[in-house]
Amino acid sequence: MQATTTNRLPPDRAGIVGLIDRHRPDWSLEQPFYVDPAIFALERELWFPRQWSLVAHASEVPEKGRYIVRQLFDEEIIVVRFGDGEDDIAAYYNVCTHRGSRLCTKDGRGRLLVCPYHAWSFRLTGELQSRQDLPENVDPEALGLHRVPSKCVGGLVLCGLDEAALPDVQPVADALTDGLRENGINRARILARKSYPTRANWKLVLENFLECYHCRPAHPEYFRVNAHVKVTAVRDEDKAAQWQEELEAWHSVIGDAEFNKLAWEPGGLDIAPFGMHRKPIGPGRKTLSDDGQPVSCLMGGRKAYDGGETGFRLGRLSFASSANDYVTLFQMIPRSATETDVILTWLVDENADADVDTDKITWMWDVTTVQDKKITEDNADGVASRAYRPGPYTALESQPSFFVQSYLAEMRSLITGERPATA
Ligand code: FES
Ligand code: FE
Repeated sequence: MQATTTNRLPPDRAGIVGLIDRHRPDWSLEQPFYVDPAIFALERELWFPRQWSLVAHASEVPEKGRYIVRQLFDEEIIVVRFGDGEDDIAAYYNVCTHRGSRLCTKDGRGRLLVCPYHAWSFRLTGELQSRQDLPENVDPEALGLHRVPSKCVGGLVLCGLDEAALPDVQPVADALTDGLRENGINRARILARKSYPTRANWKLVLENFLECYHCRPAHPEYFRVNAHVKVTAVRDEDKAAQWQEELEAWHSVIGDAEFNKLAWEPGGLDIAPFGMHRKPIGPGRKTLSDDGQPVSCLMGGRKAYDGGETGFRLGRLSFASSANDYVTLFQMIPRSATETDVILTWLVDENADADVDTDKITWMWDVTTVQDKKITEDNADGVASRAYRPGPYTALESQPSFFVQSYLAEMRSLITGERPATA
């Protein structure tokens, strides 16, 4: 069946399907998936348009008329607030419908979006406003801005490239909105943002993010602070059992077993992957800081520190980590077959003191992400060698293994038009 389908495909696509079909489950990908511009081009055409991604925090467009220019995969988009309602946020491709100029060259504010080239203007809701110079036979209604599907979920703005290709985002909103609000993410302000351009394919960046097998050798600070790493990293079974017991005791103390049921959901072509889980940071630690002590005021209406961290997954390439008093957002933006931008944004409560210590708040994830950039780039260099062959994922790398399996099933289905066998 598969041979018949691939025979009808252009040779380059048939070749990629051949690579997919020979993939050994629970082993890493063949080299071309990590280095080949032709596969990146195919992902850009088929896979990226199906992904919802985090592009902004709602506080970046605080009032009607504010707009920001952001990156969504390989496209520049405008995110704009067009009304006063919580969800009155829209997004457009940053492309003028006159002759294609960039419409906004920087963040700003206005009653209209005005193109710098010939001054065509557009309403905040996307319609063409200026019509006086249009030829008579041209319909101005057909010249509105190209809309980018968007959804505001608990203070986070998610966007995707192609309405027709995207899965329904409502299940993500239904599942995560309460959790995001409980963590105060909808009532937060941005404290800091930092970009970590990483010289590696986006899948290597993501795989690294999805496992903590590397945490002990690569992240001494993270390992020291986070009890859950010790549970998985320790080779001594008695010690592991003791840590596990402490973790479970903590879960029963905070009594939110429901919250933890939403473990990282599997993806698939029709579901935008999402997830939410809580875990304790470590004994005596109130937050994810060097000494475990608070670094800002409590978020989300909490009355006391419970020392937990909530992890959120928003689509394939966006994540959030919420400690009791600050939040870190993670965006991964594929830029080429061998380059990925990783962007971290730190949030604190909207009423947090103006003089909070930014270095203390950014410490954990900055030091960890600098280390991740280095190990991922080293990984990319090795993967590009003629000596590279796929290697086995261990039990502590089940998430990257699952991702790879899903990615290949999705790519195969998108290339051949066949539904995955497990769909
Ligand atoms: Fe925008 Fe001409 S390209 S007004
Ligand atoms: Fe890491």
